[in-house]
Formats: sequence, C-alpha cells, structure tokens
Amino acid sequence: MENPINDIENQAFEEIQAAKTSEDLEMVSIRYLGRKGILTAFLRSISSLPEDQRPDAGKNANLLKTKLEKAIQQSRTTMKANKADNGPEVDVTLPGRRRGHGSLHPVTQVLDEICGIFLRLGFDIVEGPEVETDYYNFEALNIPKYHPARDMQDTFYVSDNIVLRTHTSPSQPRTMEKTDPPVRIISAGKVFRCDSDLTHTPMFHQIEGLMVDENISFGDLKGILTTFVHQFFDDKTQLRFRPSYFPFTEPSAEVDIQCVMCRGEGCRVCSRTGWLEVLGSGMVHPAVFENVGYDTKKYTGFAFGVGIERMAMLKYGIDDIRKYFENDVRFLGQF
Ligand code: FA5
Ligand code: MG
Repeated sequence: MENPINDIENQAFEEIQAAKTSEDLEMVSIRYLGRKGILTAFLRSISSLPEDQRPDAGKNANLLKTKLEKAIQQSRTTMKANKADNGPEVDVTLPGRRRGHGSLHPVTQVLDEICGIFLRLGFDIVEGPEVETDYYNFEALNIPKYHPARDMQDTFYVSDNIVLRTHTSPSQPRTMEKTDPPVRIISAGKVFRCDSDLTHTPMFHQIEGLMVDENISFGDLKGILTTFVHQFFDDKTQLRFRPSYFPFTEPSAEVDIQCVMCRGEGCRVCSRTGWLEVLGSGMVHPAVFENVGYDTKKYTGFAFGVGIERMAMLKYGIDDIRKYFENDVRFLGQF
C-alpha cells in the first residue's frame, strides 16, 4: 500500500462531484463512511499497522473523515437550493390537472346560426376582403366621394383609395359583377368603424344579404327578414321596420327588435327607446344595378346588413357590446 488514504480521498471526491441526485450522494456517503465503508474499514485496519505508523495514519484518516462529511453535507445543501429554484418536485401520483375546454366565441356561434338560417332559405355564401377599395365600399354603392352620406360611417382609411370596409355591402357589387341574376347570397365578416360605446365597437361583424330576380318586392324583403328574426329568436319576438336612408337602397328601412333587457320599457342599452336596431335594409337602388350592368327594367332586388353582435346581445341578454372583445374567460366561458 503506497498511500491508501490519498487514493481514498481522490476517489471519494470524484464521486461526490459526479453525484447528480441526493440519492447518488447518499450512496457515496455509505460507500465511504458507512458501517462497511471504505474509510471505516481503513480506520479499523490501523490497529494492525506497525506501531510507528499508527498515530499518523489515524490522524490522517480522521481528518479525511471530517473532510468527506463536510463535502457531502455541502453538496446536499447546494442540491436542495437548486431544486427549490426549479420549483417543487413533481408528485406523479397526484391526479392530472384537466385542461379547460375551449369553445366557440359567442359571435362565431351566432354567425354560424344565422348563416344556417339563410342557407335553409336558399341563400349561398360568398366572401369579400376586409381591406377594401374605396370603389366597392362606397362608389359602387352610390356613395360618391365627398357625399355627406359618407359621414354615416366613420371610416378607417388605409390610403386615399383603400379603406377597412365599413360594412359588408361591398359584397353586393362584387357578387353582381361576377354573376347574372337571379342572385341570392349572404356574406359575413368583420367590418370597421371609428365607434365605441355600449352598443358600438370599432370592429364588429355583419352579415350581408342580397336577393335579385324578376318581380322581387318589398314584401319579399319583409317576409324573409321576419322569418329570419322569428327563427333566430322565436315567433313572438317583436320587430319593427323603421323608414331610413341608405344611398344604395330605395326605399330603405332599418329593423329594430324589442329590447330584451327592459322588455320595451326603456333602459340604457336601448337609449330609453325600448328598441335596439339590428339591421339596415332596402330595395337595391337602380344606380347600383347600373354600376354592375344589370337591366334595371327587368330586375329588382333587396339587400340587408345585420349587426351580429347586436343579435347576440339580444339573444343572450348582454348589456355591453364591448364585453365580446375583452377576452375575459369568465364571460366567454358562459357560451
Ligand atoms: C349598414 O352598414 C348598411 N350597409 C346596411 C344595409 C345593407 C342597408 C344592405 C341596406 C342594404 P348600418 O350602419 O345601420 O347599415 O349598420 C348595420 C348594422 O350594423 C346596425 O343595424 C347595427 O346592428 C350594426 N352596427 C353598426 N355600427 C356598429 C358598431 N360600431 N358596433 C356594433 N354594431 C354596429
Ligand atoms: Mg343603422
């Protein structure tokens, strides 16, 4: 034996350093300091050494013992601290945490439902761009540049001739340019206006409807829209056609539905009128037909644009339209 105590020391420290877990450390401690450990065995064997070597060997072995104990303890403390940094140990026996189920946004649900109603009434679905040209958003719809009617819709301009569409009505000329009558389409999507209060948001959704054929009358408009409202709510829902103005329809009417919040008594949601406007509509203006090359003598038609958030407000009794877009799961989780 050259200098066994040095060999023991080197090897023990190597193993302490290599230990990755507290279990590893425990094993090292047992292998060297345990009852049958290497260092313990060495200490026991000292009595069999020649007498002059015993004091030094004993002293060195005891020193090493203290040194190892200290090093192991220190490693333990460091490991614990690191573990605390990484959070508590995972208890794999605990039941798993359930992941919450997502659901469709109430606006999406109502959109789907409304599309379903019109599909069953024989309408096809078309899509249009959210970033729209001034031509389709306004001019083709009989709203010339600088016409006061532009003030009806506070517009986000991208550039002089490009806007964020303020309504889904551009889908009317876009569709008619590509198709000959008869036309029976709906078109749904996001629209944008510089608006914000209890019943207005800067981004909201509309569904546009357009029906063109020979002999289409205002009676067809009333019939289709009444059927739609009664299917969406129920047969007893009160609605009224209120004369209105849109440059692209003549005559025009807006449809109001009795406020569900106050049952028509008048409250802050319906501005004390007892009614909430949900859509604009009218007979397609001949100027719009001319812009797309339709024969105004042969064809007539009606169009409408429904505010989706408003319909959902009435259906679910929501008193502030802005709640849809705050992304509060306590609100969204109820649908
Ligand atoms: C229009 O947008 C016309 N394009 C509708 C139309 C289509 C008329 C076809 C004739 C023929 P109006 O600006 O009224 O009309 O908007 C239609 C509906 O969108 C309103 O009845 C309302 O329900 C909803 N709406 C309007 N502005 C907002 C807003 N800022 N936030 C939420 N909903 C809105
Ligand atoms: Mg309106």
